[in-house]
Amino acid sequence: MSSFKEEISKRRTFAIISHPDAGKTTLTEKLLLYGGAINLAGSVKGKRTAKHAVSDWMEIEKQRGISVTSSVLQFKYNGYCINIFDTPGHEDFSEDTYRTLMAADSAVMVIDGSKGVEKQTIKLFKVCVMRNIPIITFINKMDRDAKNSFDLLEDIENVLGIHTYPVNWPIGSGKEFKGVYDRNSKKILAFTANNGQKEVEKKELTLDDPALEDTIGYYHKQDLFDEIELLDGAGDEFDLEAVRNGQLTPVFFGSALTNFGVEPFLEQFLQLTTPPLPRETVDEKVEPMSDFFSAFVFKIQANMNKAHRDRVAFMRICSGKFEKNMEVFHVQGNKKMRLSQPQQIMAQEREIVDEAYAGDIIGVFDPGIFSIGDTICSPGHKVQFRGIPTFAPEHFALVRQKDTMKRKQFIKGTSQIAQEGAIQIFQELDAGMEEVIVGVVGVLQFDVLKYRLQNEYNCDIIMETLPYEFIRWIVNDDLDPKTLDLASDTKKIQDLKGNHLLLFTSYWSINWALEHNKGLELAEFGTN
Ligand code: G4P
Repeated sequence: MSSFKEEISKRRTFAIISHPDAGKTTLTEKLLLYGGAINLAGSVKGKRTAKHAVSDWMEIEKQRGISVTSSVLQFKYNGYCINIFDTPGHEDFSEDTYRTLMAADSAVMVIDGSKGVEKQTIKLFKVCVMRNIPIITFINKMDRDAKNSFDLLEDIENVLGIHTYPVNWPIGSGKEFKGVYDRNSKKILAFTANNGQKEVEKKELTLDDPALEDTIGYYHKQDLFDEIELLDGAGDEFDLEAVRNGQLTPVFFGSALTNFGVEPFLEQFLQLTTPPLPRETVDEKVEPMSDFFSAFVFKIQANMNKAHRDRVAFMRICSGKFEKNMEVFHVQGNKKMRLSQPQQIMAQEREIVDEAYAGDIIGVFDPGIFSIGDTICSPGHKVQFRGIPTFAPEHFALVRQKDTMKRKQFIKGTSQIAQEGAIQIFQELDAGMEEVIVGVVGVLQFDVLKYRLQNEYNCDIIMETLPYEFIRWIVNDDLDPKTLDLASDTKKIQDLKGNHLLLFTSYWSINWALEHNKGLELAEFGTN
């Protein structure tokens, strides 16, 4: 294999999704530890110490001690080159997480064993399903009292609607956590807590090992034998094809904090997932190993470096090889250009990259020309990737500038922040930009908007929260929204591109609209 192909085939690009506090950050730290990318666990994000290793870009982030932005971490392990999206853990920042999932080839779903499937996991999971990408589950915190393992699987199957295949099986939990049984090797890995060090003392036993009973205890042994029988008899069969289509999730049990089960998980994860997948453009499918370069922008982040007021556009390379200073074509801008200062984030450090391959993520300096979903490709081979969907905001506010003389700054600021994808802006039908309706996925983005308008655009705003909770795009192109028969608490609005939408306060009013307007089609996602 040529080195170009080799480079691409060793890439794995995935996101870790979870409800806040399930252990995503801890698991990410442990994975990085195996890659040798960082020496000490605990340096990805220290919540308590307010130490933000990768994204330390905004006051709000510092004040609240949370990571507002997602970043990409790259490390090498066993001949693989791994790109992990470190997505914001806080509930308020899920639209960025949604978009990040559009750039990943697979997802790791971390679930707290004592809680099962939680709210935010469901939302993020839906996006993964939309893309049919493999989802690998890590049930964490087995060193704490966990729910019954069969119930946890049932929860995943019922709530998320995906089949499960436990790759390993826990023996007890909490104080009684004895280890896991690996169904493939038919060996037991006994639990040894090691306070997070890389080297875990490995104690493996076969089922017929005379020391088994001493290691896990008589009752656990009995239970384990019964459970293995049940799993082998009644559980789903392992089917790699179904895993790769996102219909079956392999499930691992472990404890990220004590570093138990993390390395076996990583090793098997790499086997279960594929190198970068082909990507759909408007009229073809782009294979990662194609000789031309192509990428799309999935995230724009302002003020990564406060001193320079810069904006960085993050793009996912879909095919070919990127080389520093190479000439590219920006499809939406219809312009040839050179990407300056391409950056990659290696654990804690951002560094300039000389080359990157399909599957990698690079951040490039953006003088304000890129939008989310834009395509960048070799000038000799023009393609255009399908846009990234606009995810439905869940909170809305009416926003206007305090000082009417600041109109220009207000429009510029809100439009730019919307272009970065931090907020979505809407207007009442036939209204001007004096007053806009801002929609966000997480309420903290309202604070971000206020802060940034004040600090970057010198514009104070008045914000009035609106009672709407649901937004739907009107799919029917030819429909005049003014003719719609709607409940009194439904609002007709449009986005900046002129698409028509409806705001609702309840599911009841959504149904009312559908029942009273034959043929009306509403969508939960918009297109860029
Ligand atoms: P998140 O990124 O998904 O939000 O979760 P994070 O890794 O920050 O973990 C949330 C809390 O759960 C942390 O405790 C962390 O130490 C703990 N935790 C993670 N994995 C395990 C595990 O396998 N077992 C146990 N027992 N705990 C685990 P914290 O007290 O909230 O914060 P910290 O001060 O330890 O950082």
